[in-house]
Amino acid sequence: MEDATKLYDAHLKIFQEIAYIKSYEEYETLYQKSMDDPEAFWAEQAEKYITWGKPWDFVLRADFEEARFEWFGGGVLNASYNCLDRHLPESKDKVAFYWEGDNPDESEQITYQGLYERVNKLAALLQFKGVKKGDRVIVYLPMIIALPVSLLACARIGAIHCAVFDRLGAEALARRIQDCAAKTVITADGGYRAGKWFQLKHNVDKALKRCPGVETVIVYNRSGSKLELNSKNELEWQEAVDDPGLPGYVPPEPMDAEDPLFILHTSGSTGRPKGMVHTHGGYLVYAAMTTKIVFDLKQDEKFWCTASINWITGHTYTVYGPLLNGLTNLLFEGVLFYPDYERYWQIVEKYRVDKLYTTPNVIRVLARETGDIAGKYDVSSIKLIGTVGEPISPETWRWCYHNFGRSWAPIIDTWWQTETGGHMITPLPGITALKPGSCALPFFGVDPVILDLNTGQEVQFPGQEGALFIRKPWPGMARTVYKNHYQFKEAYFSLVPNLFFTGDEAKIDEDGYYWLLGRFDDVITISNHRLGTVEIESVLIQHDRVAEAAVVGVSDPTEEQVIWAFVALNTGTAKSDKLKQELIDLVHEKIGMFATIDVIKWVNSLPKTLSGKILHRLLHKIALGQVDQLGDTSTLADPLAIEEIIRDFS
Ligand code: WT7
Repeated sequence: MEDATKLYDAHLKIFQEIAYIKSYEEYETLYQKSMDDPEAFWAEQAEKYITWGKPWDFVLRADFEEARFEWFGGGVLNASYNCLDRHLPESKDKVAFYWEGDNPDESEQITYQGLYERVNKLAALLQFKGVKKGDRVIVYLPMIIALPVSLLACARIGAIHCAVFDRLGAEALARRIQDCAAKTVITADGGYRAGKWFQLKHNVDKALKRCPGVETVIVYNRSGSKLELNSKNELEWQEAVDDPGLPGYVPPEPMDAEDPLFILHTSGSTGRPKGMVHTHGGYLVYAAMTTKIVFDLKQDEKFWCTASINWITGHTYTVYGPLLNGLTNLLFEGVLFYPDYERYWQIVEKYRVDKLYTTPNVIRVLARETGDIAGKYDVSSIKLIGTVGEPISPETWRWCYHNFGRSWAPIIDTWWQTETGGHMITPLPGITALKPGSCALPFFGVDPVILDLNTGQEVQFPGQEGALFIRKPWPGMARTVYKNHYQFKEAYFSLVPNLFFTGDEAKIDEDGYYWLLGRFDDVITISNHRLGTVEIESVLIQHDRVAEAAVVGVSDPTEEQVIWAFVALNTGTAKSDKLKQELIDLVHEKIGMFATIDVIKWVNSLPKTLSGKILHRLLHKIALGQVDQLGDTSTLADPLAIEEIIRDFS
């Protein structure tokens, strides 16, 4: 076992020779500049990373009270132009995406020119179907090239894309279509996952029964078999874009910096996912800069971000960030374990991936399944490994560093959220000595504060835990919750005036390094998918035998989070394994197959406060077996409830 306080700095010398930012001193100077004069700092970045049709009138207008933020106001730009057109003179033949199929025998590649052509064709088709600037388009596609093409085609004509994770079911899809009142859906007949075919169009059909506002469905034919289309409003993508009547070039729509670029739904502490809105100007500046600086990506490097494009990680670090920088990306359709657990290593070897961005969970599973990889696979192309989504345990970190990183390639543990648009707290290669489990220091312009919520005061440095807030606005921040600004204000800006609430618990150590400790609210992370416990609870109580339900996420330091459900049944209902299975199936059906309840505990009633709120924290402690740490339970509405549960458990 290595010394827990050891600093890992072997990468510093190597990166200092080549990195964009070469020393800790340079980081400090630039960081200080971003704090002292954020407007000047961000104006400089906006000029460097983005080609503007018209420069902005002002850099920032911030109103914390109303939770209104505008960046680069009056500036005009287009995301698709910035990702594609402007690179063509120099890099039209450069590969934009290598695509690796679920089936290892299937692969493809597309150049910047090729991507540009496909995006223009789809943009022309969308326009022909009457899609206009500001219209919302649902994108429900698997990880195929058609997915980034769809996002960029929407952006090209100024439509707002709203990607829906392809493993979500019909009900979740319907809710998202309704939430953003979309009239257009882009989907596929289905997709391949671990050698199996899964249906997407069927889910769309089911969802549309409840979404009469949808006028057009564009279906990408992934299977190659004849598609069953229900009406003339449903088109087969490949056939429709072949129409010689469609123009091959669609002028990019001039967008105001503050026009929305996309909506992505994420879980919060309420039952309904929130449609976070990101805008053209600030988001793109932030995506471009963080991609280049945090991964220190060079023009000839291959970058592989393993997340789905349907989540923010893929939006920012597979599509927008890399394409804005004119880089080459890998897009993988499949999964970690198919045909076997060696797949990721084979992909790294096959494409000679330079930099990989993945999750602690992936690394943990690989460590378990593939063991010591030294000598077995050629991973020598790897120069950096980024992680995101959850804290990485020091044990997993060290395995990754010594095996995959050959005891020098840095592990860049990036903390951020759907709401933040891009990296917020992260080490930088060439600058930061690494501590396993810590995401190190704030990115430029990011001003974190940790408060003790009981006193409202900043925590005592070092080591004291508190709630993480961000003080200064940053360009990548979400601007609102779609059609619900009140919710945006309430969730992020109401707890403490003038501060953005992250929902995360954190501490700083004696070196000023940040350690993220988990969520404050009832949000759990399952295979890197953020899920509100309330979302699962509201499905469980739809079952006619269920009286009430409480869900908690339980993690042990070496394993993934698992879902526990405490369920009270209607009086007279027999507790059976069959009923347990029904509840598990119901959650699969309503939320998606990835949301599996691992443990169901029958209870007579749930512990609540006098005002009727379920005390998840107590249930969490019980699930962990820490019944001696429940604290004072005398203020519960019904202290008996908890006593009964404890008795049943011991
Ligand atoms: C939540 C955001 C941002 C893309 C992936 C998830 C947790 C994220 C880290 C990290 C510890 C992390 C936080 C955060 N999280 N990165 N490096 N260390 N925790 O996006 O679904 O919006 O979830 O993921 O709890 O609030 P998301």
